[in-house]
Amino acid sequence: MDLRLDGKKALITGGSRGIGKAIAKAMVDSGAEVMITSRKAESCEETANEIGCLWEAGHVGRPEDAERIVAATMDRLGGVDILVNNAGTGPYNGPTIDCDIPRWNKTFEVNLTAPLVFSQLCWNSYMKENDGVIINIASVGGFSTNEFIGVYDISKAALIHLTKQLGAELGPQVRVNALCPGLVKTDFAKFLWEGDKGDEVAQNYPLKRLGEPEDVAAAAVWLAAESGRWITGQAIVLDGGGMVKFPSA
Ligand SMILES: NC(=O)c1ccc[n+]([C@@H]2O[C@H](COP(=O)([O-])OP(=O)(O)OC[C@H]3O[C@@H](n4cnc5c(N)ncnc54)[C@H](OP(=O)(O)O)[C@@H]3O)[C@@H](O)[C@H]2O)c1
Repeated sequence: MDLRLDGKKALITGGSRGIGKAIAKAMVDSGAEVMITSRKAESCEETANEIGCLWEAGHVGRPEDAERIVAATMDRLGGVDILVNNAGTGPYNGPTIDCDIPRWNKTFEVNLTAPLVFSQLCWNSYMKENDGVIINIASVGGFSTNEFIGVYDISKAALIHLTKQLGAELGPQVRVNALCPGLVKTDFAKFLWEGDKGDEVAQNYPLKRLGEPEDVAAAAVWLAAESGRWITGQAIVLDGGGMVKFPSA
């Protein structure tokens, strides 16, 4: 089965660190030409130099930045065969009933509207005529409720539904899928795994460890490559088995 991405051009949001960086590196290693983006130019540049890719800084929640980033990708790579909507945020923790609207809006701008805007831009500027693959990084949280990160989880549930909807609309040219990780050891989720907390969570996973960014990257390459050719509209869970043990946790 062909897991190579030679000749493919990939744009990865939130590619400067964590899961996005691991996906960018895995795609470069698989032969793709890659553009990463995140808000901080210095982080983008450092990561791009390390893994051998291009970068363009910007805030995914700002439509004008999204336009500039996709235009730069078209200009410098000559196309965008693979879009990975990975940048995510969780500015509010607590009961959903108490969430203030500015943080609710920010969550949805970054986690839901940005993936739609980037998908629209890539579809209209390249994928409609040339085919493509879109991968949205959702979360296992999109399948359940949570007393602490409910607002984030609602945005990920909506992203899973956006994935199904675009999967239905954009075939046969474009495959659209979501990857739904459990707890992965990145800065973003550190408050959930620092100290002994991570070991406790890992003990509840049948595979007895937390995720590493490379676990998600391996699945992203598999989905983007020819190996994923008959998969669209799916939300694929990567969680060491956590969901089958606690399906409604
Ligand atoms: N880690 C987990 O346990 C876990 C589990 C399930 C799902 N996820 C999802 O996986 C994705 C990646 O998370 P991660 O854990 O790898 O996080 P991370 O290590 O904090 O990395 C986040 C990346 O996104 C960028 N970013 C954040 N906000 C942005 C914005 N508004 N515009 C552009 N770039 C932005 C960051 O760079 P800048 O700061 O420079 O912008 C960084 O490159 C997210 O969608 C997250 O929801 C994570």
